[in-house]
Amino acid sequence: MKIFIDSANIHEIREAASMGILDGVTTNPSLVAKEGKNFRQLLDEIVQVVDGPISAEVVSIDKDGILREARELAKIHENIVVKIPLIKEGLKAVRVLSEEGINTNVTLCFSPTQALLTAKAGGTYVSPFIGRLDDISIDGMELIRQIIGIYQNYGYTTQVLAASIRHPLHVVQAALAGADVCTIPFKIIDQMFQHPLTASGLETFLNDWKKNESKLV
Ligand code: E4P
Repeated sequence: MKIFIDSANIHEIREAASMGILDGVTTNPSLVAKEGKNFRQLLDEIVQVVDGPISAEVVSIDKDGILREARELAKIHENIVVKIPLIKEGLKAVRVLSEEGINTNVTLCFSPTQALLTAKAGGTYVSPFIGRLDDISIDGMELIRQIIGIYQNYGYTTQVLAASIRHPLHVVQAALAGADVCTIPFKIIDQMFQHPLTASGLETFLNDWKKNESKLV
């Protein structure tokens, strides 16, 4: 499973990239707005740090506007993936972009029918939002399993990108379900490293070593 960071914060992205585990980045208009930076400049910075797919979202909601923004975003760097909302106009644009060879991430997916239509339209990725479904007492992970099942039945190549991740268990469940990608906020990437037995075990090893006379160097 590929790991993307779900962030527009350049410090978080840099830190996650330095961990050697990062395959890509997803941003969205809310994450970008939080940074208070020029969108273009921010994307220029991100592409310098991460050599992998970087999702940048359009804010138009009509086909022509989406296409205009998408083509501009795609020109910035070959790694830019244009993130498009899962609405009728969005999927019309995805079909055109797919024929132009522009990669897309179809976002705000909350149902298997939406995911099926995304694959038919030629989306590169579909982003089902797990946490936001869990928030309204619908099992978000079940949606991931359903989409993977449908895509496997027909050999669709659209990649399933598990989004709206709220805790490390979501990551484990997405990996077990066979999600192609999981996009994870920085705080949760950090939590994934932690285990109390690793911390206490290391402390013991280092304390015991201090009592030892032999040294390697
Ligand atoms: C996906 O790409 C979105 O940016 C993100 O995962 C949304 O997560 P949220 O529900 O925590 O806002």
